[in-house]
Amino acid sequence: MASRSFFVGGNWKMNGNKESLTELMGSLNTANLQEETEVVCAVPSIYLDFARSSLDPRIGVAAQNCYKVAKGAFTGEISPAMIKDCGAEWVVLGHSERRHVFGEGDELIGQKVAHALESGLGVIACIGETLAEREAGTTEEVVFAQTQVIAENVIDWGKVVLAYEPVWAIGTGETATPEQAQEVHEKLRAWLRANVSDDVADSLRIIYGGSVTAATCRELASQGDVDGFLVGGASLKPEFVDIVNARA
Ligand code: 13P
Repeated sequence: MASRSFFVGGNWKMNGNKESLTELMGSLNTANLQEETEVVCAVPSIYLDFARSSLDPRIGVAAQNCYKVAKGAFTGEISPAMIKDCGAEWVVLGHSERRHVFGEGDELIGQKVAHALESGLGVIACIGETLAEREAGTTEEVVFAQTQVIAENVIDWGKVVLAYEPVWAIGTGETATPEQAQEVHEKLRAWLRANVSDDVADSLRIIYGGSVTAATCRELASQGDVDGFLVGGASLKPEFVDIVNARA
């Protein structure tokens, strides 16, 4: 089995200002972050340039969304080319808030994944079931279908991280149990083995997101198929460092 390096993303969502983010980035730059862990901050697009120039180069920068083409008459959108021009390396796509607050569907998300990868960005592709879907027993069906659309659009799996973020766990304080996370991650890896390749199943990082805190991260990180985290609220707090170091 290929060894997968731990990956921790901090998704700042629509939070912070220059003053608070300067403080946050300053503390990350001087923190003792475990070297083997890949750390990426997903920042509001207006702060991409600022974040890239303020953060230590060992910390990656991601946009939280992008559009599916390079340029044109798409008021309010940003392209992967622009994200790269700001020096950022990653983009988060398919986040639950994009799907559920802004109505993005699988087809659009797939097109964005394809274009971001063609443009040379790394993609943190997000999937996850709602509470109603979990309660109806359709978790697998939902996450497999979302993953299928992403997979159809991936040209380079080496630049993809898959983030399993159950919608019911996002921002609710209700973290999935280590067993719940491991169960879905394991099934996703089996799906990748059956539908993509052994190599991708072994090497793709599948990270968990949804109310991860310093208190819950270690046990989650000890699960065999949990290769890191996508952290929302706690990524704005000092405890983010503990989450980055969850495997230390
Ligand atoms: P919380 O950690 O605030 O639940 O957010 C998770 C998330 O959506 C990360 O992308």
